[in-house]
Parts: sequence; C-alpha cells; structure tokens
Amino acid sequence: MQNLEPLIDAALKVRQQAYAPYSNFSVGAAVLTDDGSIFTGCNVENASYGLAICAERNAITSAIAAGKQNFVAIAVAATPLASPCGACRQFIFEFGDDIQVISVDAADPASRKQWTSKALLPDGFRLD
Ligand code: THU
Repeated sequence: MQNLEPLIDAALKVRQQAYAPYSNFSVGAAVLTDDGSIFTGCNVENASYGLAICAERNAITSAIAAGKQNFVAIAVAATPLASPCGACRQFIFEFGDDIQVISVDAADPASRKQWTSKALLPDGFRLD
C-alpha cells in the first residue's frame, strides 16, 4: 500500500469547504485512483434536510466525471471520527471489494480507523 498521507491531507483540507449549516458536522473526503490521482468532496446540506449529500459520494462523483473508476482508497475526515453511512458504503462498494477506507479525526489526525469496502458492507449489493 502506498503512502496514504497525501490522501488524508486532501480530505482534511477539503473538509474546510463543507456546507453544513444545519448539522454543523463538516466532512471531507478524498479518493485515490490507481493512477495516483486524488479527487475530493465535502458534504453539502440543504434547507430541505433530506437532500444532503455526503462528502464520500461527492468525492467519488467528481472522480467519475473525470473518467476515473479504479479506486484504491478513500479517506474521510470529520470530528469526531465518522465511519461512512450506509448509503456511502454501498456507493464505495460499487467500485470494488478491496478499496481501503480510512476515517480520520480532523481534530486529532493521528486517531484513525481503517477497513476495506467489503468489510464495511458484507454481502453488498451488485447487479451481476
Ligand atoms: N456525512 C458525510 O458527509 N459523510 C459521512 O460519512 C457521515 C455523514 C454528512 C451528512 C450530513 O451533511 C452531516 O454529515 C451530518 O449527518
């Protein structure tokens, strides 16, 4: 596994752009592709609360729009440390079983948890 520190730094940095006036819970995510590219996303909330989009899904959609679909890892930064929600687990799982998912506490970046996409979503849904 390559050095994931730049990926974690990118998640911490983009978290500062979060639009989370309703929950006040800012999240940043950064996804690493197999060619070494990094794409980022933050959570974006709405006055119609259910429309909120998570940081993880925004990072992945950004990568997809750039033509990248092979993901090695995704870092998630929040405080306290947040593991991805169920919808985001399914969204990540779509792109592979062995994507490394690293959650980091933005207030204490040495505090981390790491899983594979499959471990976060056993028997995840696929159309195949
Ligand atoms: N959120 C994320 O962006 N990612 C997660 O993994 C957990 C939750 C966002 C959604 C919402 O804007 C806020 O955090 C509180 O739920």
